[in-house]
Amino acid sequence: MRVRVFPSPAKAARALAREIARAVARNPRLVLGLPTGRTSIALYRELVALSRSHEIDFSRASTFNLDEFVGLSADDSQSYHAFMQRHLFDHVNLSPQRTHLLNGAAEDAAAECQRYERAIARAGGIGLMVLGLGRNGHIGFNEPDRSLVTRTHRTHLRPSTRRANAFLFDHRLGAVPHEALSMGMGTILQARRIVLLVTGRSKARAVARVLSGRLTTRVPASFLQLHRDVEVWLDGDAAALISSS
Ligand code: GLP
Repeated sequence: MRVRVFPSPAKAARALAREIARAVARNPRLVLGLPTGRTSIALYRELVALSRSHEIDFSRASTFNLDEFVGLSADDSQSYHAFMQRHLFDHVNLSPQRTHLLNGAAEDAAAECQRYERAIARAGGIGLMVLGLGRNGHIGFNEPDRSLVTRTHRTHLRPSTRRANAFLFDHRLGAVPHEALSMGMGTILQARRIVLLVTGRSKARAVARVLSGRLTTRVPASFLQLHRDVEVWLDGDAAALISSS
């Protein structure tokens, strides 16, 4: 895995937005995999700025988000769907027909997960997958466990993950759903290129474990080490424990 360390979270976000702009310029029909979470907000702000200055044209690109909370529909203001509208979709020229998210309110979750896998395949697979990292080493909502799931699936959220997401629910932990739909590890690893963006001291331990050279289902992101085109983009704080790992 190639590691790049930037002087600040803002510089990492800016560099990644520019990298995405270059990738979309090379391939206007690029299929992007996208994360949510606090880290991604800085990235989306930079992408919106590039779009406003006409330095990126999303008109033929597609996106697939990694995950969504079970029970929340697209118009629920606390859904990841609404998060994406707020931070990116409302401000750039992505076609609504080409922005894809799992429907957390689907009656049949298994059918919804299969529909999503088919949609990704129909789009030609994910060209560039941007990931964030949970403090416990999760990617998407693939949580540490005795085993990991290959494909898009319904999953239980760990207490620490629910706490980390409480900011979306006015910090009311009780309001955070206990379950989510998420791309699986295989879905993620099939992307042609992956960039893991991680900032902040609270992620330093997880980063060190991801880069440790060991694979463990207790650190789902450690499986990224199997992919041939993964970059890990960090700020200095997130990189703080790498050498001691
Ligand atoms: C959430 C999302 C992940 C995201 C991670 C990091 O739980 N499901 O896809 O990468 O947490 O979020 P943050 O950037 O807020 O730390």
